[in-house]
Amino acid sequence: MTDALKLGFGPFAAPTKGVLVVFAEEGVKLGPATRKALGPLVELVTRAAKAERFSGKKNSALDLIAPAGLKAGRLLVIGVGKPAELKPKDFLKLGGLATGKLPNAASDATVFAELSGGAMKPEQAADLAQGAGLRAYAFDRYKTKRKDDEKSPATRNLTIAVGDVAAARKAYGPRSAISDGVLIARDLVNEPANVLYPEEFARRTGALKKLRVAVEVLDIRAMKKLGMNALLGVGQGSVRESRVVVMRWNGGKAGEAPVAFIGKGVCFDTGGISIKPAASMEDMKGDMAGAACVVGLMHALAARKARVNAVGVIGVVENMPDGNAQRPGDIVKSMSGQTIEIINTDAEGRLVLADVIWYTAQRFKPKFMVDLATLTGAIIVALGQEYAGMFCNNDQLAERLTKAGSETGELVWRMPLAPEYDKMIDSKFADMKNTGGSRWGGAITAAQFIKRFVDDKIPWAHLDIAGTGFDSRQTDINRSWGSGWGVRLLDRLVADHYER
Ligand code: BES
Ligand code: MN
Ligand code: ZN
Repeated sequence: MTDALKLGFGPFAAPTKGVLVVFAEEGVKLGPATRKALGPLVELVTRAAKAERFSGKKNSALDLIAPAGLKAGRLLVIGVGKPAELKPKDFLKLGGLATGKLPNAASDATVFAELSGGAMKPEQAADLAQGAGLRAYAFDRYKTKRKDDEKSPATRNLTIAVGDVAAARKAYGPRSAISDGVLIARDLVNEPANVLYPEEFARRTGALKKLRVAVEVLDIRAMKKLGMNALLGVGQGSVRESRVVVMRWNGGKAGEAPVAFIGKGVCFDTGGISIKPAASMEDMKGDMAGAACVVGLMHALAARKARVNAVGVIGVVENMPDGNAQRPGDIVKSMSGQTIEIINTDAEGRLVLADVIWYTAQRFKPKFMVDLATLTGAIIVALGQEYAGMFCNNDQLAERLTKAGSETGELVWRMPLAPEYDKMIDSKFADMKNTGGSRWGGAITAAQFIKRFVDDKIPWAHLDIAGTGFDSRQTDINRSWGSGWGVRLLDRLVADHYER
């Protein structure tokens, strides 16, 4: 199991054990509480900084072991650069960076949340704490052995020293709800497909009921009755049954139209009959990162009691190539009534989304819809892992998402939609085909396909998170493969614009 991090807030006071973490601005400028706690040791820091050429540059660190005169066994000085340049998301990263620099063995650490001008604002201290919590996550539940240098204490106590303890705790409340949502999403993405198959995924969403989220699971019978043949076709080659899960959080005005989030939940994507090559196929256990984000987001909204009506709808399937699998050339009739010629069974995510998006719009008439899907390799070619691709039929929604992205660091880049691309998915035999035929513009033709199931009267954004949903980078706030990407972004979108 993941080592537990026990996060707390306290007043500025020199710790009697463990590691003391303090921040230094450019020019090794320390804050008043830090100077007071260090006393004559400030001189040692200055000398060590010179010797190590530590100037307080952002993301640098100075590590002093067992400094005489300090009860804490270790002093870690973290550079923050110029404080005027620090944005909220930088405090999050700093919290992660500080936690990451702690030695494995440390069971106690105290972080002084101050800059040279004095205590950080409660929101900034709370961002630090959130970053620390996100960084501490590890998916290691299947590790039964550990190397000596990986051994760490079962629990680590992390105290954030702040100016106003009550205010920091209050600011941390909603952030902790959001962090929990991110970690739920990471757990789901990291979980292997032999454990997390559609029924099990649906079962796990049941945990949301504790937070008063209404959770409904549609089984095969219910989906057949609704005519969700595009989704069902994807799952028919698997011995695992498909599911659709509908999650509803009503924190807004009674009767007000909800905002809607829709996720691709392909628990494993072999490609089906158009089978994928073996290299990296194991990554396709994460092809449900969109659905994982929606579940994490619903948790975040409910746990922080967001004053909004929100629905989350996920299509959960496994794309396998058995004797009953869908074939290239097959034609299916989607819930919308439109027919689809299957060209490539590996273009399955859009088939799942087609029915789930249509269903969500019909049933809930939402204010807007955002779908998230690890949809195309092409978006990784275009944007790498830094930005998700955003396709949107509404400029205001696109702007809001872009802004929420730069605030949270979960970045989106708007990509084009246009009739010329739409033409590429016309079919000889059906209303449309499920691929554009050529690899060119692959993320765009995928988005055009989904767009055919969206009524333009509803603002809609499609986020292609194939690059960001699982993450091989090692960032300050995430060391695990599943990134939990999108939970913080969409929570911010809601908080900034849609709460009453
Ligand atoms: N799940 C994949 C996309 C993907 C690839 C996600 C790599 C994350 C990493 C999706 O179902 C898929 O296979 N897309 C195909 C579409 C093609 C057949 C038109 C792709 O991108 O190659
Ligand atoms: Mn696929
Ligand atoms: Zn897929």
